[in-house]
Amino acid sequence: MTAGKTLLIVYHSQSGSTSRMAEAVIRGASSPEIDGVEVCVRSALEATSEDLLGCDGFILGTPENFGYMSGAMKYFLDRVYYDCIDKIDAKAYALFVRAGNDGTGAISSVKRILAGLKVREVQTPLLIAGEFDESRLVECEELGMTIAAGLEAGLF
Ligand SMILES: Cc1cc2nc3c(=O)[nH]c(=O)nc-3n(C[C@H](O)[C@H](O)[C@H](O)COP(=O)(O)O)c2cc1C
Repeated sequence: MTAGKTLLIVYHSQSGSTSRMAEAVIRGASSPEIDGVEVCVRSALEATSEDLLGCDGFILGTPENFGYMSGAMKYFLDRVYYDCIDKIDAKAYALFVRAGNDGTGAISSVKRILAGLKVREVQTPLLIAGEFDESRLVECEELGMTIAAGLEAGLF
């Protein structure tokens, strides 16, 4: 067991469906099978540079709005970018996105900024587009568990 890892989960939701994904991600990351990983959950409007600098890995969740990440997630990345650049190289991250019908713009916009921060995508982005499919919350739970387990095992 690798003790003392922190997994940061930052998300934004306006009408609640990204929150439902986030709750499942958090549930997976907090699985009793995983020891030694503290899960730290923040709203994108409140998360800080210290949160990002202090974690060992992070998961971001955003809806797609106007072909881009949500304004709140952009606000988070705007606020932390210069504090964190060159200080979080290769830190593991994963992304989940909720979209009414597309999602590709949200994914590419987040990935572009995170490429600038030189962090490491360790899981393919999880996208739920179109009508909300409850059955896919299992994938959200798996995403959280996979990232937390990777931190626990020292893989990331
Ligand atoms: C202002 C606004 C813009 C949106 N733009 C897009 C878009 O460009 N592409 C898309 O697939 N869905 C778009 N949607 C739909 C949202 O992605 C969808 O409603 C999503 O479930 C919102 O997530 P939330 O419930 O967590 O707020 C938009 C919704 C809003 C309110």
